[in-house]
Amino acid sequence: MKHKIAPSLLAADFLNLQKEVEMINNSEADWLHMDIMDGVFVPNISFGFPVLDAVKPILKKPMDVHLMIVEPQKFVKEVAEAGAYMMNVHYEACTHLHRTIGAIKEAGMKAGVTLNPHTPISLLEDIIQDLDMVLLMSVNPGFGGQRFIEHSVNKTARLKEMIRAKGLDTLIEVDGGVNLETGKRLLEAGADVLVAGSFVFSSPDPIRTIKELKEM
Ligand code: DX5
Ligand code: ZN
Repeated sequence: MKHKIAPSLLAADFLNLQKEVEMINNSEADWLHMDIMDGVFVPNISFGFPVLDAVKPILKKPMDVHLMIVEPQKFVKEVAEAGAYMMNVHYEACTHLHRTIGAIKEAGMKAGVTLNPHTPISLLEDIIQDLDMVLLMSVNPGFGGQRFIEHSVNKTARLKEMIRAKGLDTLIEVDGGVNLETGKRLLEAGADVLVAGSFVFSSPDPIRTIKELKEM
């Protein structure tokens, strides 16, 4: 299966959101990645449901929602109503992860679990069979434009091996510091979906940059 590219709206020009979403629609991007931050789980605040609701009617690609918030289980209904295809919750934010994954699926969404850079993949041993995707953070969540954490390549390869050994088809998404160089190595290690924020939106020709990421 060809890998997917999910540009992150966090790096977009918020004064021209409609234009940015139309750019995504006209590009080879597979999904649009949306980063929600609460200033508690991560040391930053981004945007919330009003922005997702505004984007929903014009977006022609599936919405990949990454919740960097405490108690994400409280917002399953809101995320579903905002039109999310995939809802990603952080492992570190969920005490009753199995229940939360069930609620996400019951609401009609695909379920993803996100791991911070320090969180070992071994913690997924008894939940991975219930997941549609694992989102590996390759930076500490909270900000765009950070430096890629090198260990993420090895972590991706080990997660791929865990998924293969269990005979599952769980997707691996990697988020943070992705460009053509780190992206290529992540794909070789087994990543299925790459998130790219600043590399896409800060480039002079984002449509072309997305195409280059697709063609890696
Ligand atoms: C970081 C977010 C990322 C961010 C990635 O907390 O989860 O999705 O937008 O940005 P870049 O690609 O610039 O590292
Ligand atoms: Zn993200």
